[in-house]
Amino acid sequence: MELQSLKDIAKQLMAGNKGLLAMDESTATCNKRFKALNIPQTEEYRRKYRDLIVNTPRLEEAISGAILFDETIRQSTADGKLFVDILKEKGIIPGIKVDESARDMDGFPGEKITEGLDGLPERLAEYYKLGARFAKWRAVITIGENTPTSGSIKANAFLLARYAIICQEAGIVPIVEPEVLMDGDHSLQTCADVTNEVLHTVFNQLYQQRVNFEGMILKPNMIVPGIKAPQQDSADVVADTTINCFLRCVPASVPGIAFLSGGQSPELASERLNAMHVRFKDKMPWALTFSYSRAVQQPALEKWAGKDENIEEAQRLLYERAHINTIARDGKYTPELEKHPVA
Ligand code: 13P
Repeated sequence: MELQSLKDIAKQLMAGNKGLLAMDESTATCNKRFKALNIPQTEEYRRKYRDLIVNTPRLEEAISGAILFDETIRQSTADGKLFVDILKEKGIIPGIKVDESARDMDGFPGEKITEGLDGLPERLAEYYKLGARFAKWRAVITIGENTPTSGSIKANAFLLARYAIICQEAGIVPIVEPEVLMDGDHSLQTCADVTNEVLHTVFNQLYQQRVNFEGMILKPNMIVPGIKAPQQDSADVVADTTINCFLRCVPASVPGIAFLSGGQSPELASERLNAMHVRFKDKMPWALTFSYSRAVQQPALEKWAGKDENIEEAQRLLYERAHINTIARDGKYTPELEKHPVA
């Protein structure tokens, strides 16, 4: 394992006040988002949309790395330039989603298991040649009446750890993403208890599978109440609960933590990231940033709606959302920023 090279990539991904852009929606997820907006669910429209994203002016000022999907890493602009090459020219590091999505977990009603280890070393070797320098695997943990079970947490953590060590051996920085879903009406405390258990289990497995903490990035959920919970706690409470949990669970040797947005509104995702930086400035051993998909892309996707004449405005909205999150990473976000489009 070339540890120094992994550390260098992780450092570049977490540099300054930038974040990661998750643009790795699987075909099924991308089509679901398109369908909701009456955008044709074809390969050409998915290509057009990713073309819009990678060609967004000034994207590189806010984004250090972009996570791609297998279809996207092979696609090009209308005039034949590979998206990966555009990203590299902008100084944005290409990454790749390598899990094969979460599916129902046999024997565990209501829970999911993420698979995709078969052939992973060979796939990673190809992705490396195509330009990917980091990867992502998302495990899904569901809070319900009788879930999550320790059986599903352990199985998902084991697979995440096997994925991570295989990536490191291939010279690729693994993003380890155990997502505790926001779906439901559970309290913030329930999310905190589950996230605490999940992170302890994941780091135990990472250690057992000999993953080098210095050469990985954690992509967790924020600790938030369920989306339908009657009590919606303030950004400060979310920040305190989340960072206090991480201080107990995430080793200081991990260079970076990059949040998923998980269905929060773009504004809340920025406000909460900001509160963490305001309240824990200089108290965190790791860099802390964003790796949002919906919370950065959604306003742009809605504006584009599949129409060429909306591309420019959609790109402006995409840059604006990414830029606002860099301000949150500096701890300088205010709700007023939302009213004044970025110059
Ligand atoms: P969201 O920010 O929309 O949760 O997506 C992040 C991600 O990469 C999920 O795997």
